[in-house]
Amino acid sequence: MLDERIIKAGEALEAAKEKINERYRLGYHIMAPANWINDPNGLIQYKGEYHVFYQHHPYDENWGPMHWGHVKSKDCIHWEHCPVAIAPGDEFDKGGCFSGSAVDNNGELTLIYTGHNYIDEEQNTFYETQNIAVSKDGVTFEKYENNPVIAEPPADSIHHFRDPKVWKHEDKWYMVVGNSTKDNIGRVILYTSPDLRKWDYVGVLATSEGELGYMWECPDFFKLGDKYVLSFSPQGIEKKDGKYPNLFQTGYIVGDYDYDKNEFKHGDFYEFDNGHDFYAVQTFLDDKGRRIAIGWMDMWESHMPTKEDGWCGALTMPRELTLGDDNKIKMNPIEEIELLREECISSEENVIVSENNSFKIKTSEKMLEIDVTFDILNSDSKELGLKINGSDEEELVLKYDTDASQLTIDCSKYGKEQDSTRKADVSKNSKLSLRVFLDRSSIEVFINDGEAVITSRIYPQKNIDNIEFFTSNGEVKIESLKAWKYKQSIQ
Ligand code: FRU
Repeated sequence: MLDERIIKAGEALEAAKEKINERYRLGYHIMAPANWINDPNGLIQYKGEYHVFYQHHPYDENWGPMHWGHVKSKDCIHWEHCPVAIAPGDEFDKGGCFSGSAVDNNGELTLIYTGHNYIDEEQNTFYETQNIAVSKDGVTFEKYENNPVIAEPPADSIHHFRDPKVWKHEDKWYMVVGNSTKDNIGRVILYTSPDLRKWDYVGVLATSEGELGYMWECPDFFKLGDKYVLSFSPQGIEKKDGKYPNLFQTGYIVGDYDYDKNEFKHGDFYEFDNGHDFYAVQTFLDDKGRRIAIGWMDMWESHMPTKEDGWCGALTMPRELTLGDDNKIKMNPIEEIELLREECISSEENVIVSENNSFKIKTSEKMLEIDVTFDILNSDSKELGLKINGSDEEELVLKYDTDASQLTIDCSKYGKEQDSTRKADVSKNSKLSLRVFLDRSSIEVFINDGEAVITSRIYPQKNIDNIEFFTSNGEVKIESLKAWKYKQSIQ
């Protein structure tokens, strides 16, 4: 039976849906039916279906008391909305059901999440606890009667203690949690449990030496290839030498882990994505053995024009993670994304583009995939790329600089007037291949098979008219180009 708070949230969403302005609604990315969302939570394949939960405020287009919204899918591409899964207001989650994860415990879908509890809301003083909620049908959840399952962080911590990610290794459950020391040093701590209800503190899995922020949110720990990856979203890293341009980052460290000693020997921190809008990523393993990641496709405190339209926030497309020979993670769309290809609108090979002779695809479609390979190895061009709607009033530019070996996205005339550019380093010595996904108010660019990714929200005013492939000087050959109109896969 649905609890009263869940029914009320559902009614509020039905009413809010009626008022939505559709202009920037996405066609194939996860959003709530209306109002606010942030982090992806509880990613899991359960009884054959993919489930994604998310931080959600069903009553407002701004962040507020956090609920868990919920969608599910048979193919990880076509999503169906489910009732809100959990609502805050119990003794242990009075101020919100914050981020967390999901596991399949012998057929019982178990959500493990943070209860946020204000001491004084105005002063933003709070404490955080870890809790569970269970379901047998994957749709209705009951909170555990003896919550919290972890009432407080270790004694050397401050109040930041959130975002449990749980997995099973051999016959034990493990949990990583984001935390901060009394000296304001971000870290990830580890617990184990025989049954998801009783937890023992093991110790620190990894910590900042002081240079990586005051709090590590949304940790995730998993094996990739023959290495271990700790991913997390640090708060408080300073901008430095063009690095870390976003308010907060989401990145990873890769290394070797010894479960018996809780010893994680790892390398440096790298960001997953070079765009404006990627945060709080979470991953899961599916039944094909793929490690799939989904992030929040926005950034805290950024300009979010869809608030005027009655909704705010979306998740990235599902991305498969693999580890490169250099121990850096590559992200690529899961192959099922091709199910969305409705019509091929361009298919070209060996097109020469020069300063006075660009190549254009005429299209008014707003949901598109564009795959292009530039032969930059045999080119004298210094700057090349593509423009969506190139014009003085409105354009989105992706420009590759051959000397710097960098791809820049410039959204200054596409809804991000301030802080409009982001750059990704690209390896020299290879052709430049770009897979660009447009979905009304988002762009995701996968460079050289996931070597780098740029994800940004965009807010065009006008309809698309064309996509132009250009060079500012010299000549370059487009070795291959294909573009598809995309289908809608969520309402
Ligand atoms: C990350 C985060 C989490 C927290 C949630 C609250 O974006 O701050 O640490 O659980 O959002 O909505």
